[in-house]
Amino acid sequence: MKQDMIVVLDLGSTENTVVARQIRDLGVYSEIHPHDITVEELNKLENVKGIILNGGANRVVDGVAVDVAPEIYTCGYPVISIDHPTAKCEKQYAALLDEAEMKAFLFDVCKAEANWNMKNFIEDQVELVRRQVGDKKVLLALSGGVDSSVVAALLLKAIGDQLTCVHVNHGLMRKDESESVVDVFRNQLNANLIYVDATERFLGKLENVADPEQKRKIIGGEFIRVFEEEARKLEGIDFLGQGTIYPDIIESGTKTAKMVKSHHNVGGLPEDLQFELVEPLKQLFKDEVRAAGVELGLPAHMVYRQPFPGPGLGVRCLGAITRDRLEAVRESDAILREEFAKAGLDKKVWQYFTVVPDFKSVGMKNHQRSFDYTVIIRAINTIDAMTATIERLDWDILEVITNRILAEVPNVNRVCYDMSPKPPATIEFE
Ligand code: XMP
Repeated sequence: MKQDMIVVLDLGSTENTVVARQIRDLGVYSEIHPHDITVEELNKLENVKGIILNGGANRVVDGVAVDVAPEIYTCGYPVISIDHPTAKCEKQYAALLDEAEMKAFLFDVCKAEANWNMKNFIEDQVELVRRQVGDKKVLLALSGGVDSSVVAALLLKAIGDQLTCVHVNHGLMRKDESESVVDVFRNQLNANLIYVDATERFLGKLENVADPEQKRKIIGGEFIRVFEEEARKLEGIDFLGQGTIYPDIIESGTKTAKMVKSHHNVGGLPEDLQFELVEPLKQLFKDEVRAAGVELGLPAHMVYRQPFPGPGLGVRCLGAITRDRLEAVRESDAILREEFAKAGLDKKVWQYFTVVPDFKSVGMKNHQRSFDYTVIIRAINTIDAMTATIERLDWDILEVITNRILAEVPNVNRVCYDMSPKPPATIEFE
């Protein structure tokens, strides 16, 4: 292994990620593990140089303070604790360590080397994946999102044609998105890629379904069924690759952290299709995943892509999805993205998209009364998607985009800009 490692044990602190990032910012790789890690599990991790016990607000559960196994204190690594009263550590800190204290722990006490960088991380993960997988085969659902694309590129580097990727086009992708996934992975990176165009199947299931939750359920459930059907056609697959990243683990609730929301991924496969998971990105934060993607040679448009919901344009074609409105969402979204890129806004604005509600309004087209759809533009900024403010778009740009949408997108006669922050609105409409 190329990198030294500091292990942060989660005793219920809300600041595990702050500590892990502080260590990485000083050039040392860090991983967050649950407080009940055993010495055997700890010893399986390589190049561990020291341990930080990170206590905090959730440390006391039902009146009992969470602690690590007693052997952790005596297994030979330097151990310090933050906000966790115990007499068994080298040192105890009541609050987060300042930079000088952290440096002293990392470099003087633990004698760690500042050798954390993306190149080393990837080399280490390639090695670990090869050890885990051996000569077996791995299956990966490749949506084309940042996480699944980066994990695909990493697995490809590690195990080449032992990897099979499946890209399911549910017909709710953005313009040219599936084509780009096929082009990058099949044509440029030579991956085994199975492309499934399931557009008709999804749109069929979604016909006349207006309830947002029902739409989400159908899209998620159908996705698993299509993926499962493809998996059954293949033989000798033992592993399932997943683009799980660290925030997914926190959102699903670590043992001591409070549950934020349940995480949706390809976890719903039937019993007889259970694979062992390969999750080489699960210790990375989003910006680090992007950096890994760049290091692995993925194109910028794939790595710096804005967030896109799993149900895709399905939740932006409001109410019961119709093909004409879906086309209006797709085409207007493409125009918006093109104009944002031209104006450099794609690097500034966190998320921007269009939606098409399920009503028509009166207008004039070619001197005749028209009765057509409305496109709503949404452009927001946020840190964590929990709250959001709108982007104060320049009128000139808004006008250019509006005029293009009205001229180029069929069945649209009106464009609006959504001024609502979150809360009380949400980022998406459904
Ligand atoms: P809301 O609408 O809840 O969205 O303010 C917050 C962020 O989450 C994204 N989002 C989703 N992502 N599956 C996803 O993978 C979904 O079902 C989903 N719904 C919303 C949304 O785009 C925004 O970035």
